[in-house]
Amino acid sequence: MTTTISQHDFVGDGDSETSISVTVIENMKEEYGLFVWPCSVILAEYVWQHRSRFRDSTILELGAGTSLPGLVAAKVGANVTLTDASSKAEVLENMRNVCELNKLCCNVMGLTWGMWDASIFDLRPNNIILGADVLYDSSAFDDLFATVSFLLQSSPDAVFITTYHNRSGHHLIEFLMVKWGLKCVKILDGFSFLPPRKASALSGNIQLVEIVLNSAYETRSQET
Ligand SMILES: C[S@@+](CC[C@H](N)C(=O)[O-])C[C@H]1O[C@@H](n2cnc3c(N)ncnc32)[C@H](O)[C@@H]1O
Repeated sequence: MTTTISQHDFVGDGDSETSISVTVIENMKEEYGLFVWPCSVILAEYVWQHRSRFRDSTILELGAGTSLPGLVAAKVGANVTLTDASSKAEVLENMRNVCELNKLCCNVMGLTWGMWDASIFDLRPNNIILGADVLYDSSAFDDLFATVSFLLQSSPDAVFITTYHNRSGHHLIEFLMVKWGLKCVKILDGFSFLPPRKASALSGNIQLVEIVLNSAYETRSQET
């Protein structure tokens, strides 16, 4: 088992701006949640570039794994809950260790998509839900969207921000959004805002989307 420590820098754009650095513990074994995936690098950079929006917000990260986006949110002053599948004890333990390493006080808990444990009902309302590379196994998409839809209904003004590899076009995501009463309010090429030094180390067609509850759908379902 090979454990490595990777450092991720986020550079401020003015003299008065302080740059930040996040250290992550990775483990090169066959466990998806112990590796920093490119989608996570892109989502973390987006959080950093929109840090004023994240400061003082309540954030929940789904399928957080090594948790880079959530850690950046915590560094800029958000109240952060990091989650991964309840069965992934090693991943959840790594998340706690990474928080300690970065001197960040995040809440870490098991949250399995499509499962309704008591803990999901105890969550505080969230302003922003994050998910990096959580749309990679199409057999889990419905469970993920069911959880996202539930969380957005508990916090109707919240937004789900996710980055994913756009392997077969945006159609499947669009279909699922309609099915679960959601709509896309922003879509970006993940490389369009990534600093060149980070972009050159990554490849693929990665999109970032912001998804909210479709209030028209809510009104229609209440009428019927
Ligand atoms: C491709 S990894 C992405 C990890 C991290 N977000 C990143 O981008 O570096 C997918 C993550 O989703 C988690 N995951 C997979 N299925 C899940 C489920 N049903 N419920 C909750 N988490 C799940 C995995 O444990 C893993 O951490």
